[in-house]
Amino acid sequence: MIERYSLQPSNFNPETPKELVILSIIAQSFFQPFSLEDNLLVILTALTAGSGIGFNRAMLFLNDGMKLKATTWLGPRSPEEAEAIWTMLSSPGIGYAEIVAYNRDLVTKMVKDIQPRLKSLVYDLESRTLPLPALAAINKEIVLVTGAQNEPAVDPNFIRFIQVDSFLCLPLIAQDEILGEIVVDKGITHAPIEARDIELARLCALLAGNYIYTTNLYKKVVEMEKMAALGEMAAFVSHQLRNPIVAIGGFTKQILSSPCQPERCRRNLNIIQEQVKHLEDIIYKLSHFLKITIRELQPVDARPILLNLVERPDIKLKAAKKTISLKIDENLPLIQCDPVYFEEAVVNLLDNALDVTPEGGKVYLRARPYNDKYVMIIIKDSGPGLDEKSRDKLFSPFYTTKENGTGLGLLFVKRIIDTCNGKLEVQSKPGRGTMFKLYFKIQERGPS
Ligand SMILES: Nc1ncnc2c1ncn2[C@@H]1O[C@H](COP(=O)(O)OP(=O)(O)O)[C@@H](O)[C@H]1O
Ligand SMILES: [Mg+2]
Repeated sequence: MIERYSLQPSNFNPETPKELVILSIIAQSFFQPFSLEDNLLVILTALTAGSGIGFNRAMLFLNDGMKLKATTWLGPRSPEEAEAIWTMLSSPGIGYAEIVAYNRDLVTKMVKDIQPRLKSLVYDLESRTLPLPALAAINKEIVLVTGAQNEPAVDPNFIRFIQVDSFLCLPLIAQDEILGEIVVDKGITHAPIEARDIELARLCALLAGNYIYTTNLYKKVVEMEKMAALGEMAAFVSHQLRNPIVAIGGFTKQILSSPCQPERCRRNLNIIQEQVKHLEDIIYKLSHFLKITIRELQPVDARPILLNLVERPDIKLKAAKKTISLKIDENLPLIQCDPVYFEEAVVNLLDNALDVTPEGGKVYLRARPYNDKYVMIIIKDSGPGLDEKSRDKLFSPFYTTKENGTGLGLLFVKRIIDTCNGKLEVQSKPGRGTMFKLYFKIQERGPS
């Protein structure tokens, strides 16, 4: 027997423990394409929703470098409002977008009069005498404050702000890093903060901490990838461009320095011309590559493009003494792409395939529907094939084994496929040639 369950819980039965509902709601919000702020708002909502944990207000502090800054304050919530939110949260099939929208609205409304004052709640984490609530973050412990008025460890400015005597400080920590803090209170109901409240709030704080941590980590990775790409680009520019430039300089100097024999002059000028062409090629491909942006995808009839493409003079020239075997399905469905980019992607692959195919060898170009969602384009060569190590390098920027290569062709192809929401597969084995399979989405026909 096979039973299937959705990864994302949707409908709870009324007996489901509140704790489970709250955790499910938070976990589920992480599936949504919401921003960090929105997902934290869902956590603050869980903390302040009536029958859930039942705090009335939640204030979020974030660690901005070395300062703990108040950024959002959710509440105050009347018992009725909190209960209404809870009913909404626990009703079947509730849309998280609505919760976020609802709260965002609430926060924005509050922000107008509170934001300037909220900004005054800033704590320097480097300071030696740090009051509560910031002290809880530094000590990495949950702190319950009761009788705040008489507690010298509490910042009087903070008490004036929240106007309650009891509150709970929940540090947001992940991997030993202080990420922020949430302070919750029951300033409307004035109910006591109990052990069960603290247990649940602790779970929310752990989730929030980890969520902030992974979001920050993701941002850092993206940043590092950008820097790495920039580094590779710089290495490429200095390495690839230097050789032709040095050659051009050297051969020009030779021509200018001494009386030059016409024969030698001609040879030098030919070399210079070749190197200039190589430079132009690199610059064209680079600028072209950087220009690809996600434009509106359009229905593309791939068949005539593929049939015309093999007749292009540049392809014919390259394919001299080789055969291109062409099989294009006659009823090929329209695909989602851009006609110019589509052609360029195939030309780049065909170009590589012809480069490695020996004289007398064959290159195969095929196009047919793969299933009812995708069209498959195959470009297969009779070249030497690739071992696993070389195959892994194929899409690295500037990776080339050709004297006059740019190492941008395949990167370009991949970028086009990604832009068109397609997929790409490479199959290759030493001695068996290489096969690229491109899958393009079929353009669904609207009602005619
Ligand atoms: N069909 C293929 N068979 C074997 N190696 C290939 C094939 N296609 C690409 N490669 C390898 O990948 C490298 C990068 O290709 P590409 O990005 O098109 O840049 P370029 O053609 O300028 O070198 C090539 O230099 C070659 O080493
Ligand atoms: Mg190439």
